[in-house]
Amino acid sequence: MSLEEVKSYINSIRRDFADRPLNESAVSKNPFEQYAIWFEEAVGSQILDPYAMCLSTANKEGKPSSRVVYMRDIIAQQFIFYTNYNSQKGLELAENPYASLNIHWGELERQIRIEGKVTKVKPEISDAYFNARPKESKIGAWASHQSSVLKDRKELEQKVKELSIQYQDSENIPRPDFWGGYQLDPTRIEFWQGRPSRLHDRIVFIKEQEEWCVERVSP
Ligand SMILES: Cc1cc2nc3c(=O)[nH]c(=O)nc-3n(C[C@H](O)[C@H](O)[C@H](O)COP(=O)(O)O)c2cc1C
Repeated sequence: MSLEEVKSYINSIRRDFADRPLNESAVSKNPFEQYAIWFEEAVGSQILDPYAMCLSTANKEGKPSSRVVYMRDIIAQQFIFYTNYNSQKGLELAENPYASLNIHWGELERQIRIEGKVTKVKPEISDAYFNARPKESKIGAWASHQSSVLKDRKELEQKVKELSIQYQDSENIPRPDFWGGYQLDPTRIEFWQGRPSRLHDRIVFIKEQEEWCVERVSP
């Protein structure tokens, strides 16, 4: 497709949404239970990587950036993901801990928006996750100075080769101190369900003094 064809395609496409309501009365009182109900339906719908989510961070000037990461755990009502602490997202989170997550399950016409403050998980949690990863992934974590400029792909492959030799007789590869988990402590979780004629359902959970309040917002 040429760019002109892309433009004409995205300008002409119109699709209405199915009519699958999301009501205050049907929604769970706890957003994590509601997330689990929807997650089960996403798995049942064979959505690829239903645990993938778009993470948005911003630096101290408020300049935002987004990327997909995998949700790897939910511990004590915190959403956990793993990454390189010196990556762009890591540096931005060090300057500004507020972030948002967005999960889009297109086949189900659903979106979940999560907002909150991010902190690093305890080292023991990162260690347990890192130690359970395949050896190649551990070597990959050491080899990649995530988000920094590479001369070429060979530079990365060479680093992997060197590390593979260094650790060839060892299963005990330590976790790099620049790699580990983050936990997002949500204060707002929105469940969005597409409905016909753009009259979508948006049910929002707001955390107030450790209690979750529910409200509906306009589509
Ligand atoms: C489906 C998918 C899953 C990903 N999961 C992760 C992840 O769990 N952790 C991670 O650091 N990067 C993950 N990435 C790569 C990130 O999107 C991103 O390229 C990388 O973390 C560097 O981002 P940054 O430069 O903004 O820090 C994933 C990418 C995709 C497309």
